[in-house]
Amino acid sequence: MDDIFIQPELGPSEEPSENESSLDPDSDNDFEAASIKSTRSCSTENLQPTLENGRRYADDSYFMPNDESELTRLNIVHQIYLILLDGNLTTAPLNTPRPRILDIGTGPGDWAIEMSAKHPTAEIIASDLGVFDSGLGHLSLPNVDFQLADAQSQWTYHEPFDLIHIRGLSGAFNDWHNIYTQALSHLKPGGYIEVADVDPAGDTITMPSDLETSHLRTYAAALRAAADEAGYPRDLKHLATTALSEAGFVDVRVQERSIPIGLWPEDVREKTLGKMGLIVLLEGLEAYALRTLTRSGRWSLDEATELCEKVRGECVSATGLVARVRIVTGKKPVSFAQRREEVMARTMARIKALNADGLEEK
Ligand SMILES: C[S@@+](CC[C@H](N)C(=O)[O-])C[C@H]1O[C@@H](n2cnc3c(N)ncnc32)[C@H](O)[C@@H]1O
Repeated sequence: MDDIFIQPELGPSEEPSENESSLDPDSDNDFEAASIKSTRSCSTENLQPTLENGRRYADDSYFMPNDESELTRLNIVHQIYLILLDGNLTTAPLNTPRPRILDIGTGPGDWAIEMSAKHPTAEIIASDLGVFDSGLGHLSLPNVDFQLADAQSQWTYHEPFDLIHIRGLSGAFNDWHNIYTQALSHLKPGGYIEVADVDPAGDTITMPSDLETSHLRTYAAALRAAADEAGYPRDLKHLATTALSEAGFVDVRVQERSIPIGLWPEDVREKTLGKMGLIVLLEGLEAYALRTLTRSGRWSLDEATELCEKVRGECVSATGLVARVRIVTGKKPVSFAQRREEVMARTMARIKALNADGLEEK
């Protein structure tokens, strides 16, 4: 395996300083003295991928595989996002001349690499707990650092970012509030977070009415139950506006896009998306399910693969399946005053809504 950059372990004498461990959301001085150069090279030989149910996983914790099939699937997912966003890589504003960007759970790195081409002056950290063997993370690019880091641990980046991007991480974290709080601390005032997800376990796939009692529903419910039991929810609550605002983000905005799944759409763009969506779903059924279901102890491998097979048959022939993608952005307040204004505005809106409800009742 190639060498990539890894975040330094914090030894006893390297405990984060008070500034690092309790970063002030309103100050951008915390990072001034330190620099990204404190990362060091480390061999990926320390990684211990595991083989399970015929799939390769980066480690023993995360539920999705990181083998060739998953790599190809994620490449297609990336292309789908590009179509949905009209060729754009993000919905967040990026107005600084030399933006610092962090991609958490970068996977094969398609997003980070395209971002680096689109913003050659940007400095990008693409971080993940594992490496895809033939992923683009092995390319050496002047403005992208691939780093190994578990985002659930304490973040040790030494300079704040203009944009933090988190895509496709449903089910990866047991505490999203912790992730958002750390992200807020590691953004510059006025910097943005963008979180995007679509997960069949999160009921993001709308079925035509004749599929109301479908294998797909059984599949989604089983995944949610097993994930809840493991403490890594797949309910997509992390995409609620309140999840970001409770962590201190302001200007929280949500956008939704639809991906048709299947060959049924007539419009050319939709048909292309439909084919891509179908491949991604069919290829993803086992990837999403095998580790989650078999580890819950309630499903044998045979039962889990049989369920996936039934869902596959159903989805191939269904007309009208649509997956809903949710993209949420939030801004780190520029100042305490802005944060206070935002809280006041939200409170006033709530009071207005309550008053309106009261009037209607009368
Ligand atoms: C479904 S992939 C999405 C990859 C990429 N964001 C994309 O949109 O193509 C999820 C990625 O998150 C990584 N991941 C999962 N848990 C993580 C964690 N705790 N810290 C860092 N990365 C994590 C996985 O290794 C995997 O590469």
